[in-house]
Amino acid sequence: MKGARHLFLIGFRGAGKSAVGRAAARRLRLPFLDLDRAVEHAARMSVREIFARLGEAQFRRLEERALRELCGEPPHVVATGGGIVERAACRGLLREEGIAVWLQVSRAELERRLGRGRRRPSLTGRAPVAEAGALLRRRGPLYRAAARAVLRCGTARPAELARRAAAAYRRLCAADRGSSGRARSRPRRRSRPGFPSPPRGEGPARP
Ligand code: S3P
Repeated sequence: MKGARHLFLIGFRGAGKSAVGRAAARRLRLPFLDLDRAVEHAARMSVREIFARLGEAQFRRLEERALRELCGEPPHVVATGGGIVERAACRGLLREEGIAVWLQVSRAELERRLGRGRRRPSLTGRAPVAEAGALLRRRGPLYRAAARAVLRCGTARPAELARRAAAAYRRLCAADRGSSGRARSRPRRRSRPGFPSPPRGEGPARP
């Protein structure tokens, strides 16, 4: 891992990445960045407009570019978009450039939040709540591959999740510092680029 260690919050739409990220940034005294806002700023369009006018593939390219640019910056707490793990290159960056913490929320709870939440662009042509099941099945393994820690959110409030995310970040940064110069200074990789294997001995963050 290189110098800057961002705390990346990853997880499905509606998982609470922005609220938890803001609170975690206050705890860690790091700047907060919402990657969707960085994409919107660069494109001078809202995420919804990018999807409607340029399509999802172009959104993913812009998202990867924003993530790459951020990687040259000092550490931030970053709320990522729910589909950041779709690209192998982004999964690689999440593993290499910081600590990714997966906010894991049950499908039932996500569907409840998506049903009443702000309007999000459809990714499959179906309503966000209707497409959630299939997307979650596909993305579950991708979140797992990118994450160094998993927070099972249950009904915990953002402040509590921020406390747990910050603790996982501190613990994993300290573990990496301890192991630097020894055998495992970089995460182990499977043969597929950008799809590193989960680290040994770093199970889910304990509540
Ligand atoms: C997306 C999630 C959105 C945004 C875009 C695509 C996705 O971010 O990046 O609409 O593919 O799940 P949030 O997770 O913040 O809603």
